[in-house]
Amino acid sequence: MSSWNLESWKQLQIDQSPGWHNDSKLQTVIKQLSSQPPIVFKNEIILLKKRLQQAYEGKYFIIQGGDCAETFSDFNTELIKNKLNILLQMSIVLSYATSIKTLRIGRIAGQFAKPRTKLIEERNHEKYPSYRGDAINGIEFSEKARRPNPDRMIKMYEQSSYTLNLIRSMINEGYTDIHNANQWDLDFIKKSQQGKQYRQIIKKISKTLSFIKTMDLINNHNHRLELYEFFTSHEGLLLEYEQALTRFDANEKKYYNYSGHMIWIGDRTRNINGAHIEFVAGIENPIGIKIGPSIIPDELIKIIKKINPKNEAGKIILISRLGVKNIDEILPELIQKINENQLKVIWLCDPMHGNTFKNKYGYKTRHFNTILNELEQYMKIHKSLNSRAGGIHIEFTSENVTECLGGFQNINNDTLLNRYETACDPRLNNLQSLELIFKLTDLINTKEYQCQS
Ligand code: PEP
Ligand code: CO
Repeated sequence: MSSWNLESWKQLQIDQSPGWHNDSKLQTVIKQLSSQPPIVFKNEIILLKKRLQQAYEGKYFIIQGGDCAETFSDFNTELIKNKLNILLQMSIVLSYATSIKTLRIGRIAGQFAKPRTKLIEERNHEKYPSYRGDAINGIEFSEKARRPNPDRMIKMYEQSSYTLNLIRSMINEGYTDIHNANQWDLDFIKKSQQGKQYRQIIKKISKTLSFIKTMDLINNHNHRLELYEFFTSHEGLLLEYEQALTRFDANEKKYYNYSGHMIWIGDRTRNINGAHIEFVAGIENPIGIKIGPSIIPDELIKIIKKINPKNEAGKIILISRLGVKNIDEILPELIQKINENQLKVIWLCDPMHGNTFKNKYGYKTRHFNTILNELEQYMKIHKSLNSRAGGIHIEFTSENVTECLGGFQNINNDTLLNRYETACDPRLNNLQSLELIFKLTDLINTKEYQCQS
């Protein structure tokens, strides 16, 4: 680590590099970004680390989620408000039903760059580079749109700042106060079974709160039940961007990345000898590591030791996305290795990315039941090895889209086409997200799967 510096990653293999064409434009953009104000602040990153330490101790359950890819076009107040809504609804349901506090981390305000398995896309004998997220190129299928353009990173920075600004102002106005929970309802949820269950929960919470208020049992600060805490995260794929927003703190003599509170490294870039792991090894933010079926357990141990040599709790979040077919075979060995090495990590389950397939019409999708099955296996395996299931990592949107099969609405191959709108991976819609949380609370409350504390 002594040789680490802001640019040491550049000497190593850069997986999933966008292949920028215009180097002088890239340098201008990086210079400009390097002088911009931070998007998030140091005290917030430190608070998140503290909360993650508490999550490590079992005092919080983590719900991390949001879009697979944010886009420049899907950007308005209503959408952001609704995304915040879902996270709040999920938190309330989970906390109320399990008596465990929730920690909310959005895949939001920075989730614009995507790794791709296929670097080239072919349609009707025409071939262009794949879409890599709005931070890199455009989704339209044309030579011009698919050319990587560094200027897009400026737009990513601006939209991330606006998004977080809006979230902060909603929180300050008290929008996330539990007393406003009735306002968080979305129209189509109102008609559903989950909506009914959700409103019953809100009613009970409101009653309890007014009782507490009447009895004057809590002061005004606790009153908001910590729902005002909200953190952002994104995949740290574009190292030029991450570097530009990483600044040296002269007091602490440490580097903080101000592009988001938590950064994760994707399954395709978590190479122990690669640029991405090198870069995050030098920053103070909490770091997520996605774990797919190609993981080599000993390599995972090396990655963790490189990023977290002091074995601090709350620093490393392992996000397993193994797929229901692989989880039984792979996860137990990983947990055992982590336990043997006494590494302090938080485990999250991403039950989505290992279960993606193309349906008969060629649409990328995931089945709701498969997602649940991986989650259930995940809880079971952790319990059996005396390890803590720390939370979930999911892709959802507030819109009533039809991108994942199944669920309460029983979306099938034909209805999937009604509102298939994702820029990248299929997301749970609002109802499916709530349904998932209700199922998860059942799992947590079943002794067989209970998180130890
Ligand atoms: C993602 O989270 O959208 C993603 C690409 O994940 P993974 O790196 O796990 O494939
Ligand atoms: Co995704």
